Amino acid sequence: MSVKVKRVIDLTDLNPYFHGVTNRIGAPFCAGIGSVIEYVADYLDMPVIRVLEVASFYFMYNMKPVGKYHVQVCGTTPCMLRGSDGLFETCKKRGMSKGHVSDDGLWTLTEVECMGNCATAPMVQINDDNYEDLTPERLDAILDELAAGKQPKTGTQIEGKRTSEPEGGPTTLKDMVGANHDYRGEW
Ligand code: FES
Repeated sequence: MSVKVKRVIDLTDLNPYFHGVTNRIGAPFCAGIGSVIEYVADYLDMPVIRVLEVASFYFMYNMKPVGKYHVQVCGTTPCMLRGSDGLFETCKKRGMSKGHVSDDGLWTLTEVECMGNCATAPMVQINDDNYEDLTPERLDAILDELAAGKQPKTGTQIEGKRTSEPEGGPTTLKDMVGANHDYRGEW
């Protein structure tokens, strides 16, 4: 990756809304994507096409405005087998449709490929946060909180569960939970 391409990424901060570009370098906040790309190209003294190449290569850059909350539902096999279809239904009931901003400006729904949280599938990423071990009801509660301007609990939504450990607690290497334990003599 060239230094300039990296500077394009740094400048946009991998911000999913492209607002990071405008905030950071002071371009007009409401500039269209074309204006933003031209602004970044001018700022970095690069051809516009080079900035466009970076922006269009990475999926996390949106080429058109998204809602206040960008709801990215993973639809890849582990999440699908664990119920992501129900999560899409929950989103649709709130007026979301893939690739569009909802009428109230709150939501944009996108189906994404594996986000690396398969152990806690199904999962959804909303803006910068992941919500895992979801059911339609759990996602509904999260969307309610966001709509009310609150910050829902991130990560697993199973009460008492930590990160991606099994429900009910660890099932292997239990002696390592509280302290180091040397298992070698037990093999
Ligand atoms: S398949 Fe959904 S996070 Fe991996």
